Amino acid sequence: CGIVAYVGNKEATPILIKGLKRLEYRGYDSAGIALLNGNLNVYKKKGKVSELEEYLKDQKVDSNIGIGHTRWATHGVPNDVNAHPHFSGKRELAIIHNGIIENYASLKLDLEQRGHVFLSETDSEVFIHFIEDIRDNNQCSLEEAVRLALTKVVGAYAIVIISKDDPNQLIAARKGSPLVIGLGQGEFFIASDASPIIEYTNEVVYLNDLEIAVIKDGRLSIKTIEDVQTTPYIQRLDLELDQIEKGGYEHFMLKEIFEQPKSIKDCLRGRVISEQAHLALGGIRQYLNKLVNADRIIILGCGTSWHAGLVAEYIFEEFARIPVEVEYASEFRYRNPIIKEGDVVIAISQSGETADTLAAIELAKAKGAIIFGVCNVVGSSIARASHEGAYLHAGPEIGVASTKAFTAQVTVLTMMAIIVGHRRGTIKESLFHQLLVDLENLPVKVEKALKTNEQIKYISSIFKDARNFLYLGRGANFPVALEGALKLKEISYIHAEGYPAAEMKHGPIALIDEEMPVMVIATKDQTYEKIVSNIQEVRARKGKVIAIVTEGDKQIEAMADFVIEVPGTHEFLMPIISVVPLQLLSYHIAVMRGCNVDQPRNLAKSVTVE
Ligand code: G6P
Repeated sequence: CGIVAYVGNKEATPILIKGLKRLEYRGYDSAGIALLNGNLNVYKKKGKVSELEEYLKDQKVDSNIGIGHTRWATHGVPNDVNAHPHFSGKRELAIIHNGIIENYASLKLDLEQRGHVFLSETDSEVFIHFIEDIRDNNQCSLEEAVRLALTKVVGAYAIVIISKDDPNQLIAARKGSPLVIGLGQGEFFIASDASPIIEYTNEVVYLNDLEIAVIKDGRLSIKTIEDVQTTPYIQRLDLELDQIEKGGYEHFMLKEIFEQPKSIKDCLRGRVISEQAHLALGGIRQYLNKLVNADRIIILGCGTSWHAGLVAEYIFEEFARIPVEVEYASEFRYRNPIIKEGDVVIAISQSGETADTLAAIELAKAKGAIIFGVCNVVGSSIARASHEGAYLHAGPEIGVASTKAFTAQVTVLTMMAIIVGHRRGTIKESLFHQLLVDLENLPVKVEKALKTNEQIKYISSIFKDARNFLYLGRGANFPVALEGALKLKEISYIHAEGYPAAEMKHGPIALIDEEMPVMVIATKDQTYEKIVSNIQEVRARKGKVIAIVTEGDKQIEAMADFVIEVPGTHEFLMPIISVVPLQLLSYHIAVMRGCNVDQPRNLAKSVTVE
């Protein structure tokens, strides 16, 4: 979910609506705002922020203070009532909440027994009733009531509260969900990330876990939930407005796909200089020896980040000869994993906020593992919870389906594996040099792979009505098949499966008939001849083959229905190039099917609930 709040001398509503639109990638089931103008007025609507905006056109919404929320439903279906903000029994207090209150059922029961009546099914409404209850019973200030409530709730939260009695006050707190406070001229902004704030000010304070911020009469003060005053640490934002806008592209996803030559270059910048035989990741120094001497590496992530982890498994084992296990963070954390002192964990997360990944690394840390974070969002929770790490520097990714983060993740992980392999002596000096050159050439090759766009648009028009898709790959391109299938599922709602090409014989081959498009990643590598055979097997069952091949490949051209040519590179770097046509295919098919590419149904960019 996304949170935004404003207090100052401007009209709050347009700031809140614009902010919510920027945060829609965090969820878009329903949206709402609450304003103070003598009364507490709450407006909420099921659906996108644009629907709320439409609804507000007929309302009197002038106010200099307000809070807004865009939701990804956890408790209760998405509808007007379950949308945020929620208000207290006496309609004096309103709250926006991101996260989950785990003990809400018992709190609710207790409050109901004492006469509280609830309108929604949400844990957040219980939260604000609970705060009201404490305030009234203890006759204390709202600030104190919030603090006391936070000592009793179990779970994760980022909250902002306003009160009818205090038209110049915002109270915010966090635990496990991010909050940024923007400091303007006589005005303050609060949001889940900096994107709603950036056009007004670049001075921000990131709230820490278990801190409460009170903005009252133009002043910000922060204390811990133990009631200890802290000094706000003001940082300057390193983010430009155009980075979070579409810049002429129809969708963020398309912009981000086409940004990849640049994002990969930014990711490599200063880290690789082949002429000087230089390869280093500045964020990984102090604990580098732990990585070099590790007996095994555990890689954790969710979704696309998990796929990047699977690619990294091939690369680390090849270059560094260290056994790697890749696991879904959600599975890892609930199965009593075996971790020895000195084990190394690499946690991959674009947002750095995925709840399961964060919880998994806390668990691994508690068992003595050293954690390396691979995140895109600077200062995110996972980046901060890690011992060390390397940022992607891919720039903000807004389309829900991850694209440029994936290629940057694989790029960072490849650099890590080469550094470790070089230090361990498991890659020869000549290969080391060659790999640095190959890394440097990636942006140009990805640029070339993007030239397939028109051809892929044409192929998309042929297969846009398919009901199923099969994606096959081998070696480091097997996870690319998984990623291609995920992209198609996510945004076009076509069922798709990724499979190791050889494994096709053990199941998916039964699905193949003339209706089944089969996307085969068949670039030149050690298993090339094998995958050629797999293509024959598909053809023999009348499946339609679309093959991604290395430039100049004639053999596959003769047997596939369509070939998409991409430049070649070292086979373990190939996923960074071969994934590009798959991103484009899913994009065009989704557009042709009339799907909402940037905000596919039921998904969220950042899953901050487990
Ligand atoms: C969500 C997003 C995916 C993303 C996954 C992990 O499911 O829709 O695109 O891959 O979360 O997110 P993270 O921020 O941890 O990489």
